[in-house]
Amino acid sequence: MSDVLGYRGKRVVVTGSASGMGEAAAQILVDLEAEVIGLDVKPTGVPVAKSLEIDLRDPEAIESAVGAIGSPIDAVFSVAGLPGPPFSELDTMLVNFVGAKQLIESLVPSMPRGSAIVCVASTAGLGWQESVAEFMPLVSSPDFAAGKAWCEANAAMLQESGGYVLSKKALNIWVAWRAATLLPTGIRLNCTNPGPTDTGMMSDFEAQSGADLINAYVGPSGRRSTSIEQGWPLVFLNSPHSSYIAGEALHTDAGFTGALVTGQIEVVRPDASARRD
Ligand SMILES: NC(=O)c1ccc[n+]([C@@H]2O[C@H](COP(=O)([O-])OP(=O)(O)OC[C@H]3O[C@@H](n4cnc5c(N)ncnc54)[C@H](O)[C@@H]3O)[C@@H](O)[C@H]2O)c1
Repeated sequence: MSDVLGYRGKRVVVTGSASGMGEAAAQILVDLEAEVIGLDVKPTGVPVAKSLEIDLRDPEAIESAVGAIGSPIDAVFSVAGLPGPPFSELDTMLVNFVGAKQLIESLVPSMPRGSAIVCVASTAGLGWQESVAEFMPLVSSPDFAAGKAWCEANAAMLQESGGYVLSKKALNIWVAWRAATLLPTGIRLNCTNPGPTDTGMMSDFEAQSGADLINAYVGPSGRRSTSIEQGWPLVFLNSPHSSYIAGEALHTDAGFTGALVTGQIEVVRPDASARRD
């Protein structure tokens, strides 16, 4: 059977296409004969159809990229992200959530029925269900300026919990909430929650939290994942054959979450400031 995932000739957008999971997803999609438009602050080595430089902290750059992408768009892979320190907590929130949401919402009008969007959250966002009410003003914010204003008004929370953790909780909540209103327009929205993965940002996670804490999040598999192991689930979720999957937060963590919530593993943070991927 050829074109088993249904991507041949489809126009797809991949953010974070220069490195790690986004680069892996872009390469898979090129191999599946999709027309790939790659977006990143850095140039990508993947032979995509079109490569656009974009800084997701900049709403004007987002707007001009949306114009350059054009229409129609069959799938969006929102993968770009920052790890937190050495980047600021605000920049991390802007790239991982506020800018990502702004880009996606600006692309939605160009997406026909049967199209799909996937975001990359993280096991760092586990427990997001307890934060729904608190995060709803951010999640339902109408545009980039309003989202940024929420982050600035909640600077103390960003500093205490870290922009990375908050951005991944916000992503999970937004996906759960927004999927319900997108689905009647024929567009599916989902996310993945990866465990530790050997990519460009891993050295920053290790510098923040130490390799021991990162490895505590590996779970039953006993190893970190690779970019390609995270790229394939993204491609699966956005395939037209996944047509009854929407509002899903897929744990791409090789059993970590299941083992954690059933009490088989415990993760002890050495101090309150330590964070994980
Ligand atoms: N690596 C892990 O352990 C891990 C675990 C869970 C989730 N994640 C998430 O996976 C996603 C992909 O990250 P990765 O692990 O492949 O890391 P990576 O650093 O290899 O890739 C991140 C990409 O985002 C791009 N980017 C950074 N700032 C940007 C900006 N301002 N505008 C546009 N693009 C920007 C980078 O240039 C890079 O190409 C991120 O959302 C990350 O939070 C990573």
